[in-house]
Amino acid sequence: MDLSLLQQKFISVFKKDSEASFFAPGRVNLIGEHIDYNGGLVFPCAITLGTYGIVSKRSDNKFRAYSANFENLDIIEFSLDDLSYNKDHNWCNYLKGVLKYLREAGHNVDTGLDMLIFGNIPNGSGLSSSASLEILMCKICTDMYALTLSSVEAALLGKKVENEYIGVNSGIMDQFAIALGKENHALLLDCNTQEYKQIPFRLEGYSIIIMNTNKRRELADSKYNERRSECESALAKLQKTFDIRALCELNDDNLDEVSSIVSDPIEFKRAKHAITENTRVIAATKALENNDLTLFGKLLNASHVSLRDDYEVTGKELDALVGAAWEEEGVLGARMTGAGFGGCAIAIVDNGKTDDFIKNVNQKYLKEIGYEASFYIASIGNGPTQIN
Ligand code: GLA
Repeated sequence: MDLSLLQQKFISVFKKDSEASFFAPGRVNLIGEHIDYNGGLVFPCAITLGTYGIVSKRSDNKFRAYSANFENLDIIEFSLDDLSYNKDHNWCNYLKGVLKYLREAGHNVDTGLDMLIFGNIPNGSGLSSSASLEILMCKICTDMYALTLSSVEAALLGKKVENEYIGVNSGIMDQFAIALGKENHALLLDCNTQEYKQIPFRLEGYSIIIMNTNKRRELADSKYNERRSECESALAKLQKTFDIRALCELNDDNLDEVSSIVSDPIEFKRAKHAITENTRVIAATKALENNDLTLFGKLLNASHVSLRDDYEVTGKELDALVGAAWEEEGVLGARMTGAGFGGCAIAIVDNGKTDDFIKNVNQKYLKEIGYEASFYIASIGNGPTQIN
C-alpha cells in the first residue's frame, strides 16, 4: 500500500497534515479451527494484508473518522462524552468500543483524534478485518496517548469489544494472532491457559496461497453460535464423568467413551472434531519441528475433512476450492481457514507451480460455483506497528 497516498488523502479530508501512521495485520489460521472456544490449541499467523490508520491529535474530545473503504459514509463524528454503541456510527463502533474499555481500565485518553482508516483485507473474507481494526485502534491509542498496554492486554481488550460491545461471540484466536504477530513465525496459542509460543514458520520452496471464495461470511448471522452451544451441551454431559473445563482437555483415546456419553449424534460429531483437531495441531507443530512438510500438509487436509464432515462449517464454495486444490500438482495441503461458511481457504503450494495452481483451481471453481475465486500469496508479517 502506498502510504503517501493515504497521507495525502488525510490532508484532503481533514485539511491538515497527519502526525503518525499505523498498521495492524489480518490473520490466517494454519490449523486448529473452531477450537479456541473449546480450550484448544490454535496455530495462526499474522499476514501482511491489514488495516492502516493515519492520525492526528485534536485538542477537544471529538473523534472524526473517515474510512477510505466506505467513502460514501463520509466523516463519522463522536466524542468521549458518549461512547455507547450507536448503529449510525457504523464501523466506528469498533473504535468506540476500544476507547470505552481503555478508559474503563483506567487508561488516560482525554482528547480526540482525526483518523483516516484504510484496509486491504477483502471485506467479509474471514481474514479478521474486525480484529485488525480493534488491534490497530489499541496500537494508535497506546502510542498517541503514551499508554502502557501489553500485546496480550490489547488482544483481550479487542476480544471484549467483539464479544460485549459489538455482540459477536467469537473466541480469542484472532486478536491474539494479530496483536502477537511476528514476521515468519506462527503463534501456537493454548486457548485454555493463554500460554503461547512464537514458532519459526518458513516453508522452503513453498508458498501459502489464500483462496477467497468471494462468498461473504457474516459471523454474527452464521451458525457459529449454534456450533458453540452444541459444544457446550456436549461438554456439560461429559463433565458428569470427566473432570474437565473444556472439550479439548480430552484426547483421541477418550473418543469411545465420549461417544457413549454424548448420545446425540450431532453433538458427538462436534465434540469429535474439537478433540481430533486439537490432536492434529500437536501433530502439525511436531511435523514442522521435524521439517516434515508432507505430514504438515496431510494434517491440513484432515482438518478440512473434519470441518466438512463432523463440524459441518465448510459449505459448497469452500469444498469446491479445497477439493480443486487437492487435485493440483505440487500441493502439500489445503483447508478452509477461519469460521467457515464462505470466506477463505489456504493451500501450501510449490513455488514453481503457483501460476498453474491459481489458473486451474479458479477454472474448476468457476465451473462448479458460477463465479470466480480470488487468490493472494500470503506473507507472514508483524503485529501492529507505527510506520512513521
Ligand atoms: C472466527 C472467530 C475465532 C475462531 C474462528 C474459528 O474467526 O473469531 O475466534 O473461533 O472463527 O476457528
